[in-house]
Amino acid sequence: MEPIEKKAVSAAIAPGPLSDAAAEEMRRLEKDIERWNREYYVEDSPSVSDAIYDQAFRRLQALEAQYPQLASPASPTLRVGGAPRTDMAKVVHRVPMLSIRTETDFSAEGARAFDERVRNGLGLKPDDPPVEYVAELKFDGLAINLRYEKGVLVSAATRGDGVTGEDVTANARTIRTVPLSLEGPVPDVLEVRGEAIMHTEDFLELNRRQEEAGEKTFVNARNAAAGCLRQLDASVTARRRLHFYAYSLGEVSEEKGPFADSQEHSLERLKALGFPVADTRRICHSPEELEAFHVYVSQIRTKLPFGIDGVVYKVNSFELQQRLGFVAREPRWACAHKYPPEEALTRVSGIDVQVGRTGRLTPVARLEPVFVGGATVSNATLHNEDFIHELDLRVGDTVVIRRAGDVIPEIVRVVKERRPEGTEPFTMPAVCPVCGSATIRDEEEKDTRCTGGLFCPAQMKLSILHFASRRAMGIDGVGEKLVDALAEKGLVKTPADLYKLTADDLMALPRMGEKSASKIIGAIRESRNTTLARFIFALGIRHVGEATARDLAAHFGTLGKLEAATAEDCLEVPDVGEVIAESIAGFFASPGNRAVIESLVADGVTWPAPRAESGSEAASLLSGRTFVLTGTLPTLTRDEASDLITAAGGRVSGSVSKKTDYVVAGSAAGSKLDKARKLGVRVIGEDELRAMLSAGPEAGSQSNLF
Ligand code: IVH
Repeated sequence: MEPIEKKAVSAAIAPGPLSDAAAEEMRRLEKDIERWNREYYVEDSPSVSDAIYDQAFRRLQALEAQYPQLASPASPTLRVGGAPRTDMAKVVHRVPMLSIRTETDFSAEGARAFDERVRNGLGLKPDDPPVEYVAELKFDGLAINLRYEKGVLVSAATRGDGVTGEDVTANARTIRTVPLSLEGPVPDVLEVRGEAIMHTEDFLELNRRQEEAGEKTFVNARNAAAGCLRQLDASVTARRRLHFYAYSLGEVSEEKGPFADSQEHSLERLKALGFPVADTRRICHSPEELEAFHVYVSQIRTKLPFGIDGVVYKVNSFELQQRLGFVAREPRWACAHKYPPEEALTRVSGIDVQVGRTGRLTPVARLEPVFVGGATVSNATLHNEDFIHELDLRVGDTVVIRRAGDVIPEIVRVVKERRPEGTEPFTMPAVCPVCGSATIRDEEEKDTRCTGGLFCPAQMKLSILHFASRRAMGIDGVGEKLVDALAEKGLVKTPADLYKLTADDLMALPRMGEKSASKIIGAIRESRNTTLARFIFALGIRHVGEATARDLAAHFGTLGKLEAATAEDCLEVPDVGEVIAESIAGFFASPGNRAVIESLVADGVTWPAPRAESGSEAASLLSGRTFVLTGTLPTLTRDEASDLITAAGGRVSGSVSKKTDYVVAGSAAGSKLDKARKLGVRVIGEDELRAMLSAGPEAGSQSNLF
């Protein structure tokens, strides 16, 4: 989605039927592109692939070149990036955040053309000495500007349209690798620019969790990073792990002299100040060396922990950069050399519709297996009905498959010329392909769902698997095959049925010996002792992931209170909005769900009573005290700290208020720490928490760590 320089064209075309058709097409393209821009930049939820976007963008550019008199003055081709979200505070960049020209020519010519432009721009002759460049990675994330005043992070903003970005200060503070303050002599004003990205592994894990909570998955790591950073609620950002890599400067005051005299020098200085800077970069003195870096990175690319979409070449010397200046919104001293995504052709042999735990229908394309981007691909998610319609994809079509930096293969485009006769457009089934219940479409979420609930075997089986999963009830040995076999025999219809199983039931299943059967029964029995938070999570309430389950457990304290809560009551829980509140209240209003819960409790599923009520000494040590966790603690994970506090009768809440007794802060603590200070809430570290856990609240020393 790089903006491409507009070509000056002089052709004047007389009005006529041809130009009418062109005008019509241009207006349609403008509308489509604007909508896609909004989906991509504002909603972080694109409905079309980059390739389809690029194709439309280029087509509009071509038409504007051919019919300049028909071009709209507000054409999306004139924009860099997207408009900021209207509901986020704006930040005007003191130095505009620009974009880099992309060499669309993927051959070695790209580097040569760039070097030539630079040399011409500097007025160098062929026998003048070579220009020094820095070749860097082109991160595939979201550009942000971090502003430090007197060494303290005061603001963070997205690029937005380059001039005005969105204020993401609270969110950026939750990124552990963003320094909150800088040590040593630094300029009074220092703006550091770089990319907020999500590592591939974290992206996959996030999508897994989203799926588990019945929520939308992200198309790629870039969208996930953007969605996560541009949250109105920074606690959501904090729960997802983002990284930051610095690569350039914004406004820098010079009261102590220049900060650096070259790109390489600035990166070294930033690194010394504690900013993450990618070590994969190279000083080059010729287009051949630039090209060699491009080739080298293409070879190690899959080993990088994050996605990149190319490399960036920059003139090293700041003085030369200044002399070269800018064309339109792009510097003459930098250029991006992207990697061609790996593509292959294959045929769609079918479109299957899968039903998820919360009833969401996901269409999946079955493909004739094809080797692309280092792996054999035989299916590709189609996300939702709209996605299929935008592609105009039909069974029998030949399609272009792409597996770029992203791990997930996508269908880019249909080769219409190869469409066989008699194909039909795809429609989402009106009834669930698994249980036959009616499906309904949620226009807002672009989703189709099965209304069968636990009556639907797909939802039923997945609910049981979720219930037994490691982070829920943690029952070892209850996997997909076992649940399938049990469901087939009618032995389990709800999670509660697991606790009614006997070793004999299991031994009647194919390939199940006595030893494994008794092991599984043992694991099921053991799982009965759990925590309220895990139990709530295990129920699989739509939109209730682990963190929300913990918040609910902390807020209500007992299952009875949660069951009796109205949607309004749930809204009082930190981080719970209307949609989640309705979902929770709706879940407990269902007699079927209540019966399952009753049966589970009757079969001995139990958890420690909250706070003092449990009577045991350990469980009352922190009774009545509310804690909020923030940042990374030296040895405890958040889950561990949270479990310890709850076990000692304390409550863990997601956000800081006047009612908070302690904020337990670790390194890279964010907005919660600020709020604690503002409200005068006591801030403690892990050591003090540990002391309190063994000897009660008075054990914490009175000193504030921060
Ligand atoms: S330098 C004036 N360096 O690519 C140039 N940008 O279109 C300022 N990007 O918005 C940018 N890696 O999000 C620069 N090593 C790198 C980069 C990089 C990724 C992104 C950035 C920018 C876009 C350029």
